[in-house]
Amino acid sequence: MLRRLHPDQPESFAFTPENQAWAEAQITKYPKGRQASAIIALLWRAQEQEGWLTRPAIEAVADMLDMAYMRALEVATFYFMFQLQPVGSVAHVQVCGTTSCMICGAEDLIGVCRDKIAPEPHQLSADGKFSWEEVECLGACANAPMAQIGKDYYEDLTADSFAALLDRLAAGEAPVPGSQTGRFASEPKSGLTSLKMPEPDMPSNGSVGLATELGDTVKRIDGTEVPLRAPWRQAADV
Ligand code: FES
Repeated sequence: MLRRLHPDQPESFAFTPENQAWAEAQITKYPKGRQASAIIALLWRAQEQEGWLTRPAIEAVADMLDMAYMRALEVATFYFMFQLQPVGSVAHVQVCGTTSCMICGAEDLIGVCRDKIAPEPHQLSADGKFSWEEVECLGACANAPMAQIGKDYYEDLTADSFAALLDRLAAGEAPVPGSQTGRFASEPKSGLTSLKMPEPDMPSNGSVGLATELGDTVKRIDGTEVPLRAPWRQAADV
């Protein structure tokens, strides 16, 4: 849980012209005297630019927001989304290790990270291309186990599919995110058992489809009943 700045820091930091313009625009969103509220956005953009959050970057953002360095350091060291050490040039892999993922095989995925990337979290791989860490629940529990790489979620992983995923990234490929077993969103692995959506005229909202099966009318909040208008209902296969 202890988060410290990395001992090796670059000499300086500067936003690219595009990021500088973006950052200045973010600051204008806040009332005069409240520009410090933009700190998360600016630190995040600095991290996206550099790959990790350096001390010069934190201080540069603090200067832009007229904040004491300590205040900016408090933010940067508090939130785990900020990487305080160099990360892999190709990918920093965040493996969820919380309950659902742990039950479904997260420890196997971490074993793959130890074998293929580095023995310890936050270590760079020998070629500098990869790093990894275990993180708390990323909200994709129904598709456990999963890992986040950059902004993408890779779900329904196994040790083998995860190892193959890392190999593809190392080869310069961009694997398609989402379920790696091909299931749609977080539908049951064994296929739909409810909220089935008949083709071809069903609405995209499965709950609507189910509701129309409950009767010919629906009771409104004032107690009156109105007929359901569901042209797809006759075709329903639920
Ligand atoms: S437990 Fe892994 S995403 Fe929630």
